[in-house]
Amino acid sequence: MSKEIVVSGVRPTGRQHLGNYFGAVVNFVKMQEICDGYFFVADYHSLTTHPKAADLKSNIKQIVVEYLACGLDPNKCTLYLQSDLPQIPELYLIFNMFSYVGELEREATFKEKVREQPDNVNAGLLTYPVLMAVDIIIHKAVKVPVGKDQQQHLEMTRDFVRRFNNLYGVEYFPEPQAFNFGDTLVSIPSLDGEGKMSKSKGEQTCIYLSDEPEAIRKKIMRAVTDAGPQAPNSVKPLVIQNIFDLMKLVSAPETIQFFDEKYNDCTIRYGDLKKQLAEDMVKFVSPIGEKIKELNTNDKMLSEIIGDGGTKARASAAQTIKDVREIIGIKSF
Ligand code: ADP
Ligand code: TRP
Repeated sequence: MSKEIVVSGVRPTGRQHLGNYFGAVVNFVKMQEICDGYFFVADYHSLTTHPKAADLKSNIKQIVVEYLACGLDPNKCTLYLQSDLPQIPELYLIFNMFSYVGELEREATFKEKVREQPDNVNAGLLTYPVLMAVDIIIHKAVKVPVGKDQQQHLEMTRDFVRRFNNLYGVEYFPEPQAFNFGDTLVSIPSLDGEGKMSKSKGEQTCIYLSDEPEAIRKKIMRAVTDAGPQAPNSVKPLVIQNIFDLMKLVSAPETIQFFDEKYNDCTIRYGDLKKQLAEDMVKFVSPIGEKIKELNTNDKMLSEIIGDGGTKARASAAQTIKDVREIIGIKSF
């Protein structure tokens, strides 16, 4: 039986943090064992924010290094750069004809970006979901491991696929689903207690996979808390729940239970809670950080991996383009 096809990518907009790891990459690593995985660096997508060329170049390398450091194995999955597939812009152009300005304007991330960068509301921002859909369907993927913030993009991908299939009376593209090994898609909280951890929110609100132990300790000790529980068994306010949520990612169940009991009988000291979280976090993140340092010095190996991955990904993409051209009636004589 053929394996399920899985596609996902991360934008090269900076170093990866715990949100990227637990929302996305840890699932890639598990899925490479059982699926036909295509994991890429979404470099075209990052152009919507006009990065400097030198920054983009080093961020692309950073994502590749981090993928490998997290355990992606080029012998088990296909690792490549989005921009190494000329079929992506071709299918993107075609799918722009099947996406409507109205639905793109209503998309939540687009509206957020319009607020964040009012001086740079470029057409690429508007059609971001089309490019993302194409990344997925170019390999006819059925599962897409992503964090909760990408749910709406996946819904739009399914809309585009359905529209294409209906328009041409074919069952060509499958409808892909967002995926996480847990019950629900995850959203890792930011250290400032507001919203999700995100590369765009700044250094102090993220724990990066490449952070040194001291930096991790400092950031966690500075994480926002409150005055402490005022009555036994009270509901945890969001900022405190966030700290427990981070603990669930890296600490032993007994540790969490210990602090839960202390919270419930109002004897908790947040300093102790954060110290414990910091130590468990350092234990978890440091080995990945060490691998990142090691891999960073091996450009030759990195370029071979990406070269081979590009070749494999292009072969899969070329088949899709050939079929799509046939389906829509663009075919050379
Ligand atoms: P960022 O939002 O930090 O710029 P990306 O947009 O490049 O990160 O996201 C890459 C992947 O990481 C996506 O699958 C996204 O859903 C996931 N991700 C990013 N931040 C989080 C988070 N805080 N919690 C869960 N998943 C996240
Ligand atoms: N939009 C995704 C993000 O911001 C990145 C991405 C681009 C992606 N293309 C994709 C994720 C295809 C999954 C599949 O995180």
